[in-house]
Amino acid sequence: MTQHVSGQAKHDILVVGDHDDRARQEFAMSLKRFTQDKLLPGLQPVFGGRALPKFKKEHGVEPVDRHQIRKAMVGDTYFQTYAMTNRVAQELLWSSVQQPLERNLDSINETAATLSATNKAPLESSSEFDVPCYVSAIDIHCMPGGYCSAESDAGVAAGALYDRGVYLYSMGMMGPDNDDMGRSVCNFISRNLDGFSPTAILDMGCTVGHSTLPYKECFSHAQVTGIDVSAPCVRYAHARTAAKGLEVGFLQRDATKTNFADGSFDLIVSHILLHETSGKAMPDVFKECYRLLKPGGYMIHADLPPFHKMGPFMQFILDNETHYNNEPFWGAMRELDQEQMAVDAGFTKANVRFDNAPMAIVEQFAPDSPPEPDEQEFAAGEFAPGGGWEVLIARKDPA
Ligand SMILES: C[S@@+](CC[C@H](N)C(=O)[O-])C[C@H]1O[C@@H](n2cnc3c(N)ncnc32)[C@H](O)[C@@H]1O
Repeated sequence: MTQHVSGQAKHDILVVGDHDDRARQEFAMSLKRFTQDKLLPGLQPVFGGRALPKFKKEHGVEPVDRHQIRKAMVGDTYFQTYAMTNRVAQELLWSSVQQPLERNLDSINETAATLSATNKAPLESSSEFDVPCYVSAIDIHCMPGGYCSAESDAGVAAGALYDRGVYLYSMGMMGPDNDDMGRSVCNFISRNLDGFSPTAILDMGCTVGHSTLPYKECFSHAQVTGIDVSAPCVRYAHARTAAKGLEVGFLQRDATKTNFADGSFDLIVSHILLHETSGKAMPDVFKECYRLLKPGGYMIHADLPPFHKMGPFMQFILDNETHYNNEPFWGAMRELDQEQMAVDAGFTKANVRFDNAPMAIVEQFAPDSPPEPDEQEFAAGEFAPGGGWEVLIARKDPA
């Protein structure tokens, strides 16, 4: 039977640490939850009751967009307390994993290498790989060292940090295996793409394979491959997959230029990859998907909802990630016309649309009352949506 640690499913290379480490991890997760559940709801009344009248008095008009709302709120002590507490929780959660990771790194790397040897699907990583600077230059979402932290050529540190850290970051909302996005998109495909049974599946920006593995479970006959620009993450993904008794290949490749042959896949997916790329890379990812798809194949990107789907106050809340969580492309990505971008990449307009994939975990634990897509609440963080994941779906014309 699978054992769990604060709700996360244990496996042979999960970094948990000792009792004190776990206490720090629980505290960081609780502080994050407190910020979301208790402080966040206070922002709207503070805006309406205090910041808005003050702004109006100073400027003669009400704030109309998220930039002006931000201007009105940024000097308010309640907002500052919220933003500061959220940031502290974020830094704490990573450091609570980093400490046991650093103490145990040699044995974690050794175990990963041993496990990886039992996963017969390919693993590819190289110290010569050209990592895009929007990944290498930043400690994304305050993760120390980012996805490509420098360490030994064969190490898995960034992957190990991400696996445990993201469980705390998402406050367990991604499920015991951190795989809710993959599961939700698999369910979406089974329900909505009648008779579609992919045989070659590519997961772009797979990190440690959290969302990749559900595709192997759901489409067991298919060849499933995860790619990512981070060497420690693909190595960790390969080992973690073996720890879970599965065989899936993980390759260090760039989603904008993958080196696979034209028409290699009938399903290409990504989960929260796009908002961590750049304005230049994102169209190239779409073009690469179009090139790699077989006729009739699907591209599905699960990511953040565009700003036009919500009001300016919610935009302001969400855009705090850009300002305080080292997410430089977070807000800008939500303003892009992704449907047009898919058309520009080659997809026919009628075959491109946004949809909503209900969260698998919500359906599993509250099967009788899943939230309607219209009711979904967007909370402040990429791992804290409401009723479902936003999916951009495009089909390549059949031959
Ligand atoms: C938020 S993580 C994705 C999480 C993962 N898909 C999951 O569901 O658990 C974003 C990942 O995208 C990767 N990435 C960013 N740009 C990339 C690119 N051009 N090609 C491949 N991977 C990329 C990063 O290295 C990082 O691992």
